[in-house]
Amino acid sequence: MAKSGPSFSCTECGAVHKKWTGRCDGCGAWNSIVEDTPLSSGPASKTLGAAKGRQIELTTLATEETPPPRSLSGVDELDRVLGGGLVPSSAILVGGDPGIGKSTLLLQAAASFARRGLSCLYVSGEEASAQVRMRAQRLGLADAPVQLAAETSLRDILTTLDAVRPDLAIIDSIQTMWADNVESAPGSVSQVRAACHELVSFAKKRGTSIILVGHVTKEGQIAGPRVVEHMVDTVLYFEGERGHQFRILRAVKNRFGPADEIGVFEMTGGGLAEVANPSALFLSDRGQASPGSAVFAGIEGTRPVLTEIQALVAPSPLGTPRRTVVGLDSGRLSTILAVLEARCGIPFAGHDVFLNVAGGMRVSEPAADLAVAAALLSAREDVALPPDMVIFGEISLSGDLRPVGQSENRLKEAEKLGFSQAIAPERSKITGGSGMRVRKMPDLTTFVGDMFAAG
Ligand code: TYD
Ligand code: MG
Repeated sequence: MAKSGPSFSCTECGAVHKKWTGRCDGCGAWNSIVEDTPLSSGPASKTLGAAKGRQIELTTLATEETPPPRSLSGVDELDRVLGGGLVPSSAILVGGDPGIGKSTLLLQAAASFARRGLSCLYVSGEEASAQVRMRAQRLGLADAPVQLAAETSLRDILTTLDAVRPDLAIIDSIQTMWADNVESAPGSVSQVRAACHELVSFAKKRGTSIILVGHVTKEGQIAGPRVVEHMVDTVLYFEGERGHQFRILRAVKNRFGPADEIGVFEMTGGGLAEVANPSALFLSDRGQASPGSAVFAGIEGTRPVLTEIQALVAPSPLGTPRRTVVGLDSGRLSTILAVLEARCGIPFAGHDVFLNVAGGMRVSEPAADLAVAAALLSAREDVALPPDMVIFGEISLSGDLRPVGQSENRLKEAEKLGFSQAIAPERSKITGGSGMRVRKMPDLTTFVGDMFAAG
């Protein structure tokens, strides 16, 4: 029997429910279930019936067509994150905390594309045109041929886009857009989904590239249904720590290029400035060697980036000691603490642990494990690591050290920045030739014994 009546689905995992509940059975998330409102009413009959459709013409994977030409903005940090420029007809979602600089970035991007001959339309649903103009003037972009509108009605925007047919349209933000065929308030899940669906379909049909700005929730995900991230071709996150001037544009999904590529910017009085050579950026202000600090030779996308991992381990008066992490995954910290305890016999149970990546950088590579462990041990034992040493390697649950990719690039960059020794996993592919003294370690126990003469 065909199901009728409303249906509900979870915005986190997509599980479908017959009735609304506070908690999703599928993934356990709270308050994530919303009523599904169909985008169109669909055909009246419940099943497809016997009527035949048209047979679809099938093709092969081979193609004579050349890939679509990409447009470069001239802002290298942006072009690289996009996978080598803007692809025509693509839909891009840019998420980030409020005030991080999304509107600034996209206004600058629009101006750069416009100056290179693309027709660009910037639709602001949050600010008045005068506000955007004032910002453009302050950023020295007032002369760029960008067309500007302050509007939230999706119908009017689509009509305008259809008439103007720009090469690039920027919608700031998707949460302020409002479709008159959907009853709920702007920003609600069904509105966001409807607006995204319409705009992405427009992009695919009419050859306009669309950049959508998305707000993020407290948990750091783009507000609204997860399906929005599936609908678009590229998802970029604009991140940075408040109080630091550095901003990182990170590709988390890209149908036209590598994911995990980053672009680094600096927020200045005159807008966002590119940081072309970020490898040493997050190491700045390093004083003399102090306990609890380890330098991680990381790779972000295609570039090596060195970061300082800082740890503080202090006796805790609490029954459940504190674990505070900034710039790293807290689950990863728990795992490393557990491995140190179980495999090396070094307990952290009675200690508060604070872990921090200096400079406002976020590190997501598993290759940072060994540097994290080194910082923790150095803080706990109150022994400073040699200041000219970089560390990388993934720690497995057995306590073994696993080799990580691009070892030589990491070493080369570290050498360039004046480091002279490194600790790496035993099976790392290093053919030599660099002036770095590399000590290879098979497992965490060896590392602890070697570095801290404890364990
Ligand atoms: P904005 O682009 O409005 O952020 P979002 O759209 O992500 O909410 O950026 C706002 C912040 O950027 C604001 O706190 C001030 C700062 N800023 C500068 O430091 N310099 C500048 O030139 C501009 C335009 C903004
Ligand atoms: Mg904004």
